[in-house]
Amino acid sequence: MDALNPQLRPLEVNPKTGEPFLRLISHKNIILTPARLDDGPAMITYFNDERVYQWLRKNAEWSLKQAKQRQDEWLAELEAARDDPILKVVDFCPVGSIREVQEDGTEIFIGDIKIGLAQHPWELEGTGRLEQGMPRSDPDIWTFGNYLAPSHHGRGIMSDVIQTIIQKWAIPRMGVRRMVVTVFEGNAGSVRVLEKNGFTFRETIAACAERCGVCVWLNGS
Ligand SMILES: CC(C)(COP(=O)(O)OP(=O)(O)OC[C@H]1O[C@@H](n2cnc3c(N)ncnc32)[C@H](O)[C@@H]1OP(=O)(O)O)[C@@H](O)C(=O)NCCC(=O)NCCS
Repeated sequence: MDALNPQLRPLEVNPKTGEPFLRLISHKNIILTPARLDDGPAMITYFNDERVYQWLRKNAEWSLKQAKQRQDEWLAELEAARDDPILKVVDFCPVGSIREVQEDGTEIFIGDIKIGLAQHPWELEGTGRLEQGMPRSDPDIWTFGNYLAPSHHGRGIMSDVIQTIIQKWAIPRMGVRRMVVTVFEGNAGSVRVLEKNGFTFRETIAACAERCGVCVWLNGS
């Protein structure tokens, strides 16, 4: 058997699995290990427990604050250009929160869409960008991520969101001409939404570095 890699000290190595671990000082029956792919089901159980998610929610709130601050800055940029007779071409969309307007005028948050520059290797294949150092995003290739409240699935809402945002903002105001969107293999609803919006399938990558299987979809020239 290989001798313990000195770089791992003071970690120990499980002789059966070869996995390194660190034993707690007081709770000797508890160890720290690298992540394991079969931890998923247990993680979901813990994340659904209020005693855990109430605190993770704080993280979500923090992310929301960051997003809000960015959008406020974008809106301020547009405000500063108010008197410019030529519409600015910008690299952002200041509206991405999807809300349902009720009959009494109140609005319910039902989802989100974010447009940004493509950065993942599988999105940038064939652009020559992968060979260069960071940042390697291509200023001409855009992508988006989205989700909708399950209560509103299957009513054509996200297809409409994408069509609206591409036609009314991304093309005229951001100069977007090419989009690359990846979805997890098997996400049939998301694939259908892309098809309905004119995206064409490029390839399935069975094993990406960070994702198990993704399908790459393209739109534009
Ligand atoms: C993907 C998602 C955004 C779609 O939103 P939506 O408003 O329900 O989408 P639409 O109603 O516009 O279109 C959904 C299409 O997929 C179809 N569809 C949905 N689930 C499907 C399934 N399991 N198998 C096959 N088709 C499916 C619907 O029938 C519909 O097609 P149709 O209009 O031809 O009937 C939404 O399901 C969601 O939030 N999913 C979880 C998060 C997610 O996957 N985000 C995308 C990450 S890339």
